[in-house]
Amino acid sequence: MEIDILSLFPSYFRGPFDVSIIMRAREASLLEIRHTDIRDFAENRRKVDDRPFGGGPGMVLCPEPVANAIRSVRKPHSRVIYLSPQGGVLNAKKCEELSSFDHIVLLCGHYEGIDERVLTMIDEEISIGDYVLTSGCAAAIVLVDAVSRFIPGVVGHPDAVAEDSFQEGIFDGPHYTRPEVFEGMEVPQVLREGNHAEIRKWRKNKAIEKTGRVRPDLVRGVMFK
Ligand SMILES: C[S@@+](CC[C@H](N)C(=O)[O-])C[C@H]1O[C@@H](n2cnc3c(N)ncnc32)[C@H](O)[C@@H]1O
Repeated sequence: MEIDILSLFPSYFRGPFDVSIIMRAREASLLEIRHTDIRDFAENRRKVDDRPFGGGPGMVLCPEPVANAIRSVRKPHSRVIYLSPQGGVLNAKKCEELSSFDHIVLLCGHYEGIDERVLTMIDEEISIGDYVLTSGCAAAIVLVDAVSRFIPGVVGHPDAVAEDSFQEGIFDGPHYTRPEVFEGMEVPQVLREGNHAEIRKWRKNKAIEKTGRVRPDLVRGVMFK
């Protein structure tokens, strides 16, 4: 998958994509991430924002540099996404859906956001939660990370993704590793006995119990599916 990220601060992304699973996916050419500085599309690389018509606080990204940045990377089958608190909230289903695109363009807003007219060039607005970030950069990192996990080969063991939280509509079960006793707390007996049918049942019950306690809305969703 190819991902183009359009922002005012490409240097923001140094680090998160240069370590661990995402870095390995890039090295294996499963993922190609490119950065575009929206400022490169402003006259003399200067003015990218202006005051809002009608008054109000903050600055708004001007339409010309943003539109030209999109045009510079967009291909006929690209999915162009504006990271925005006003979009549909990102979830596992959406991440899996996005992983099937060959090319995604992520537009990061800054300040008060982008000129509304640029939305005509956007396929979809996506939010990473009901709160407001200072820019779309952190949201882009979250989206790239979560979508990448669904690209075959990115996560070493394919079952790992299938068994993760939300894939069955509920949380993943609890995990334990060595030592068997940690500060007086033992690893549950069932996990040490090797009966895989019993282990599956135990994990599922634990997952349902925790999901019901923390996110009853998810359990209701599974029951009425
Ligand atoms: C300060 S915010 C602008 C908020 C906007 N005035 C509003 O209230 O809807 C600046 C930029 O951060 C990004 N952003 C903020 N919150 C976000 C969220 N929850 N999910 C995705 N992007 C977000 C968007 O790209 C946005 O243009």
